[in-house]
Amino acid sequence: EKGGYDHFMLKEIFEQPDTIFDCLRGRLDAVNASITMAGVQNNIDQIKNASRIIIIACGTSWHAALLAEYIFEELCRIPVEVEYASEFRYRNPIVKQGDVIIAVSQSGETADTLVAIEKAKEQGALIFGVVNVVGSSIARISNAGAYTHAGPEIGVASTKAFTAQLVVLTLIALKVAHEKGSIETKRFVQLLNELHDIPEKVKAALKTADAVKKLADKYKDAKDFLYLGRGYNFPIALEGALKLKEISYIHAEGYPAAEMKHGPIALVDETLPVVFVATKDSYHEKIVSNIQEIKARKGKVIAIVTEGDETITAMADDVIAVPEADEIVAPILSVIPLQLLSYYIGIAKDLDVDKPRNLAKSVTVE
Ligand code: M6R
Repeated sequence: EKGGYDHFMLKEIFEQPDTIFDCLRGRLDAVNASITMAGVQNNIDQIKNASRIIIIACGTSWHAALLAEYIFEELCRIPVEVEYASEFRYRNPIVKQGDVIIAVSQSGETADTLVAIEKAKEQGALIFGVVNVVGSSIARISNAGAYTHAGPEIGVASTKAFTAQLVVLTLIALKVAHEKGSIETKRFVQLLNELHDIPEKVKAALKTADAVKKLADKYKDAKDFLYLGRGYNFPIALEGALKLKEISYIHAEGYPAAEMKHGPIALVDETLPVVFVATKDSYHEKIVSNIQEIKARKGKVIAIVTEGDETITAMADDVIAVPEADEIVAPILSVIPLQLLSYYIGIAKDLDVDKPRNLAKSVTVE
């Protein structure tokens, strides 16, 4: 059932070209420049005219939500708030009619997310579910939705469900932007083609596995890791750090790279590996300066870059390159080596990567 892989986690990481393809199938039509999503189409007026969108989730799904905030705001020009379900549900949140709530959940059973959206629904918001498990509680209570179609995820650490969430949320943002007229046709078509090419590029990103395994052996004894990113890659830095904590039990923190100066830089010395998620995007120049700041303090820099990036390759201690892609979809590629890094460090430390201690696959109690 592990399909020849040693662990479900590795199988699920390697399934991603297929799960992403499944997630796009029947929805994305790059040739005719259209996106078919009944759940969005049936509520299009309400969504495109929403005064704001609130995205509610926990854990890895929250990281997908955070990236969605950047993408929705850029493409749809609708204000977005991203909420931890556990915080939202207990603080008498302000929800108005006309607000659209998106709930993101792999299992569809996360107690905090479920209660948070029940509350928002009572206050008159439209609830849109982005859920993996068909017929789950969150899927049923939602007014509309789009399944992620990643198939059953057995590994406790979310991998393929995360990339499917990113794909679905990007499709929704593109569809809404197109209907709303907030995206130029040329850009819309370009991004559809970018999404169309993603499964093949994920396949190429998975070819980094051997190189990442070597890095895992090199850095497995580190006590702490810092993960830094800017813009679309900031949520990926958070996700990389979470994966490492879960699977290898190494303390890791994710930060927006520029926040480093406001505190975390005090941690940097020659023993601290700092993972930069630094693919070529509009923030590139800025993150290059952040890498310089770490090198000047003797930190060890591991950089996830775009193939052909000579600038960062010349500066970093170790580099893993993923295929070039538009900045909106590049995070789907940059997360792949980070998933692999946590997996291989977990293996190097002989840990139970499919069932890390203290964790449950779905958190159905608060
Ligand atoms: O099933 P959900 O997506 O609602 O679960 C949310 C979190 O519990 C989940 O993402 C958790 O953080 C995973 N262990 C991450 O790998």
